[in-house]
Amino acid sequence: MSRLVLLFWTLEFFAQQVKNPHSSAEDVAQGEKTFRSHCSPCHGLKGDGGRGPNLSNGVFYHGSTDAELLTNISDGIAGTEMPGLFYSSDRVWQVVAYIRSLNSASERRSQRGVEQGSMLFKNQGCGRCHRIKGHGGRMGPDLSEIGKTRAREHLRQAIVEPDADVRPRYWVVILTGADGKKYEGFLMNEDTYTVQFIDMSEQLHSMQKSELTSYRIDKISKMPSYGGKLTGEQVSQLVDYLSSLRPAKESR
Ligand code: HEC
Ligand code: HEC
Repeated sequence: MSRLVLLFWTLEFFAQQVKNPHSSAEDVAQGEKTFRSHCSPCHGLKGDGGRGPNLSNGVFYHGSTDAELLTNISDGIAGTEMPGLFYSSDRVWQVVAYIRSLNSASERRSQRGVEQGSMLFKNQGCGRCHRIKGHGGRMGPDLSEIGKTRAREHLRQAIVEPDADVRPRYWVVILTGADGKKYEGFLMNEDTYTVQFIDMSEQLHSMQKSELTSYRIDKISKMPSYGGKLTGEQVSQLVDYLSSLRPAKESR
């Protein structure tokens, strides 16, 4: 290891270790005062963002250790609108303590959301159609790792407005077979002469198009909309829960 690398590694190591020496309840209250007068015009009254980024959710682009927060707040961030706060480090530490208190409140809120959302998932019967870690129905997609691939906004829309974005795998084929029976299922494959679909009890069918007496594809969702049934808060709790569903290694 070169000396320079070693030096940076050491600095980094100590930066990780620095703990805020001013983090009592009183410090938090003082920090809040400073925040209100100097920071809230850009970062919002509760730190939830405005002209500057949200500081309440614990996600920091420029560094998230206490030491990095101290530096970014004292010195500002060069080349951006973020000014420095030219106060004693004691007062800046108090502001850091206040930001941390917002972070842990937001952590608790989302933890509660995950728990409430998990109960709603059970009570609302989502599991009739969705599997999570091996339990539940198969009509809809497996949601075991949905938090990894889908953003919150997509999840919210899937719940309140399912028809807005239906993947071809879930397009519904509705037809009357040669036997005069009506079938409904998800389209698996289609060519000029034949159509393959899986019906709602998971039977695979293949039929000659020429023998059908009616045939149509609906690009609407088999999932009912919960937009009118759930409050906005309940929907966001479900979204908290679904976002927390990740591969084992990634979950927090
Ligand atoms: C004039 C508006 C303005 C004021 C006042 C201001 N900020 Fe900022 N702040 C910004 C902007 C804009 C950024 C984003 C910089 C960038 O990345 O482009 C920022 C970034 C930050 C960051 C880094 C965020 C991250 O994601 O890493 C922290 C921490 C921060 N501000 C804290 C504060 C505190 C604490 C105060 C009050 C002492 C304050 N800011 C005052 C505009 C402001
Ligand atoms: C009657 C069966 C059914 C019920 C009940 C149901 N869903 Fe669905 N769900 C589906 C189907 C089918 C799809 C795929 C079509 C679509 O995207 O809407 C789907 C899609 C989704 C998606 C999008 C998945 C993705 O990969 O983008 C989410 C998220 C979701 N459902 C969550 C829920 C939640 C939460 C509930 C309970 C409040 C619920 N579902 C209840 C059938 C159902």
